[in-house]
Amino acid sequence: MSSEGIRKKFLEFFEKNRHAVVPSSSLIPDDPSVLLTTAGMQQFKKYFTGELDFAKDYPGKIGAASCQKSFRTSDIDEVGDERHLTFFEMLGNFSFGGYFKKEAISYAHEFITKEMSLKIEWVSVFEGKDEIGVPRDTESEEIWKSLGVSDVRSQGMDDVFWGPTGSSGPCGPTTEIYCKNGAGQDIEVWNIVFNQYLYPGSREELNAGVPGKKLEPLRIQGVDTGMGLERLAMCMQKTKTIFETDLFAKPFFLAAEGALLESGRILADHLRASVFLLADGVRPGNKGAGYILRRLIRRAIIRSKKVYGSPEAFPKLINKIIDFYGNFYKELNSQHAEILKAFSEEQQRFQKTMDAGLKEFFKKYPEFKAQEYRGEPYKFHIPKNISGEDVFHFHQTYGLTLDIIKDLAEEGSHKVNIDEEGFEKEFQKHQEISRAGQEKKFGGHGLLLDTGELKAANEEELKKVTRLHTATHMLQQALRDVLGPEVKQMGSDITVERTRFDFAFPRKLTAEEIKAVENRVNEKVKEDLPMQKSVLPKSEAEKTGALFFFKEKYPDPVNVYFIGKNLENAWSKEFCGGPHVAHTGEIGIFKIVKEEAVGSGVRRIRGIVEP
Ligand code: SER
Repeated sequence: MSSEGIRKKFLEFFEKNRHAVVPSSSLIPDDPSVLLTTAGMQQFKKYFTGELDFAKDYPGKIGAASCQKSFRTSDIDEVGDERHLTFFEMLGNFSFGGYFKKEAISYAHEFITKEMSLKIEWVSVFEGKDEIGVPRDTESEEIWKSLGVSDVRSQGMDDVFWGPTGSSGPCGPTTEIYCKNGAGQDIEVWNIVFNQYLYPGSREELNAGVPGKKLEPLRIQGVDTGMGLERLAMCMQKTKTIFETDLFAKPFFLAAEGALLESGRILADHLRASVFLLADGVRPGNKGAGYILRRLIRRAIIRSKKVYGSPEAFPKLINKIIDFYGNFYKELNSQHAEILKAFSEEQQRFQKTMDAGLKEFFKKYPEFKAQEYRGEPYKFHIPKNISGEDVFHFHQTYGLTLDIIKDLAEEGSHKVNIDEEGFEKEFQKHQEISRAGQEKKFGGHGLLLDTGELKAANEEELKKVTRLHTATHMLQQALRDVLGPEVKQMGSDITVERTRFDFAFPRKLTAEEIKAVENRVNEKVKEDLPMQKSVLPKSEAEKTGALFFFKEKYPDPVNVYFIGKNLENAWSKEFCGGPHVAHTGEIGIFKIVKEEAVGSGVRRIRGIVEP
């Protein structure tokens, strides 16, 4: 069955079963807490929470169904294998009190086994989790068994508990359906979510178990399902990869073996995704969705060399994509000229960047000089070792980002070693310097900044980032108290929402250590110690044992901020530009919401403060 046939069957099946068929919403969501649309349920969030009444808007219907354009950045580095994508189409049916588990599972079973004539190999259900008060989903298990599906496996939070998306929202246990693809592997095709709860925080906070935030039962019990069209097509068309389904084979006129090359897959995914993002009005830029689009286009250009020979192939390819997908997504047709234009502008910008960057590159490394580079865009050699400083320099000055340099390295004929860790370090160093510069510019009591992005817009926000800033000093000292003095700051970043602190440490922290660090900070908050400042010549300041992240960035004389009654016996001392609270009690409750690795030997903690 063609992908067009699958879409049609799906929407007709649910229409027949009294569902309203709703068009895909834009890839740019209404919900400002989400960057791009990642799921079909997003356009229905207000029906789930009860802010809007579905029965009133769609009289006589028991639910809705759609084929939703979706985009997930989380998988971007996975693209190139058999089944990961950034952009994909998601078939879904949704209920907002109209029906629940029994009907949802029965519809899915009927659609897969009758309409698609596929066998369900096995299904998963939620095993339950006491800490969040959600029991094992025995109800779904019994429903599956009554329908004749006997292989029911239980899984945990990571696999079968969905949501919330964004900073809060509906969530709940799920049940997933597995079918065989053309390679004989069982793949997950359909995720059926039972939206039973509302969580007043993000998924990160739910996982961390932030005290004070609890799952609450939703008044309207909802169903949110999502089935990847590309994956279902793999099962229906018996292909080994998604790239051999008609969804890619048709528009990309990929020769069968072309579909199996990593570069071909990256190109196909990124170009298709770029066309859809452009059609919804995203334009290449330096932040948010624009940055994602820029990255996709630039990677597609680099990867195109191996597959199509020259970048001139792009307009032709874009036309093919629009021809193929325009039947279903009409916006592609109306935006056709705009898409071509925006793409080619970005291509030219990139070409310029590349030209200038490469010229410098060859100047720096004469042994790899430009005889290979005869004005053709991407034919050149790169040295076998590229230092972190150099990667950073080319990133910063010429926009040759790490992933681009990596892509180039893979396309080139040399095996290249890139010092990624060194690059990270350079990057962090730079961020700190630019923040110190900004603090100076704002007269010391000014605004804490993200690189290039103003984060505190008013007095209230300034108060919040100031609390987070002092909390960051306390976090560093608490880490040293608990883990030892080898903890060393590698970077930090503070926004109105949270502080992010990177530090050198060789392993993952245990749950007990995280708790101990958090408790240590909160103890010092309770003591309501004064935060004070001494201005000292740098050489003397160093002798106090005060910590500094990067000595050179501070002016002489330097501010030493310390927590305690006097500098000598202070609990925490750091070189710093401020601003800070006057007493630690102002901080409120400090919480660690995440601990993770960012490169080898570097850990990252995200913390928040609550009133
Ligand atoms: N929201 C769920 C998902 O994206 C089901 O649609 O998997």
